[in-house]
Amino acid sequence: MNAAAPPLALLAELTHRCPLRCPYCSNPLELERASGELDTDAWVRVFGEAADMGVLQVHFSGGEPTVRKDLERLVAACGALGLYTNLITSGVLLDEGRIAALAGAGLEHVQLSFQDSEEAGGDRIGGYKGGHAKKVEVARLVRKAGLALTLNMVVHRQNLHNLPAMIELAVGLDAHRVEIAHVQYYGWGLKNRAALIPTRAQLDEATAVVEAARQRLKGVLVFDYVVPDYYARRPKSCMGGWGRNFLNVMPSGRVLPCHAAETIPGLRFDSVSDRPLQQIWETSDAFQRFRGTGWMPEPCRSCDRREIDWGGCRCQAFAITGDAARTDPACELSSDHQRIVELAQTESDRAPPAFVYRGLGAGAARTEPALSEDAVPGAGRS
Ligand code: SF4
Ligand code: FES
Repeated sequence: MNAAAPPLALLAELTHRCPLRCPYCSNPLELERASGELDTDAWVRVFGEAADMGVLQVHFSGGEPTVRKDLERLVAACGALGLYTNLITSGVLLDEGRIAALAGAGLEHVQLSFQDSEEAGGDRIGGYKGGHAKKVEVARLVRKAGLALTLNMVVHRQNLHNLPAMIELAVGLDAHRVEIAHVQYYGWGLKNRAALIPTRAQLDEATAVVEAARQRLKGVLVFDYVVPDYYARRPKSCMGGWGRNFLNVMPSGRVLPCHAAETIPGLRFDSVSDRPLQQIWETSDAFQRFRGTGWMPEPCRSCDRREIDWGGCRCQAFAITGDAARTDPACELSSDHQRIVELAQTESDRAPPAFVYRGLGAGAARTEPALSEDAVPGAGRS
């Protein structure tokens, strides 16, 4: 068995309910229903177990975590346990009273997602009319309440032309940090990959924009930048390595090493309703399977980066090759690398198909009309 140091952070997916329908949502294609969600007492017990095992941070996520009426109680419970609390939200259900209540309960940080820099694009991508204007208002209220604010900008071929404006929006809203993350292709993002994947030229231009802004805005705004693996030479250290730093607790209580782990067939996920969190972290099948380096095939096994990127992303290896135990195809040293390069080139060169919006039951998700290439700034070759 691989020895497991305690995790740093717990992602609490309180619910899969959400008013938005982003086509790159990191939730699974089969969303969990409200009737199956852990109740307040169960979550409080889980946070207690997390604190006991050495977890330092709790990130409240979803779906949309503010759907839960008990969020203030959960935040307060974490505070009493000495856990740092971060709320990852779309913001559209928040108002001044709720923000004050969350701040009063001890919430320390808010990560607010934006779909674009402007209303038409933001509302179309999120599938929610009025969402963008609401987010702008909520960002102001969060700062007025004295909470630290990060803006999450998920970028892709249909909004990259607005990247400079997104950065200006973050400055204008007095955010401390902006996370500019290219879509990662699992779950809904994988389903919509052809509608989202940028060209190599778009990616290079975006990277230059971020680097220039990072220099220009030193001391004003902190940048996190996540590039799409499909154009990488080496993979990212996904989750900081499988079962090393993070655990995800799903709305129903199943515990996952990463948000997409259930896309990998054959893994068994234990629930906090059946076993203590520490036991799950240390001994469960799902956490053991790809922890450390013992599972690695060549070329990872003899590579000097094996304890830097931990072989990349297991979910991506499965999504591209059908085998989660292969080297991440994002790595140039992988014999599957050419597949990912060809996929990226072929799909980003074509006009984007219509979005398949997230919804209950993959088949029930609604689509929008496909865009013509002319209608998408930056689409196709550039
Ligand atoms: Fe990382 Fe494996 Fe590639 Fe080495 S061979 S860089 S460990 S993915
Ligand atoms: Fe699951 Fe990368 S998203 S390991």
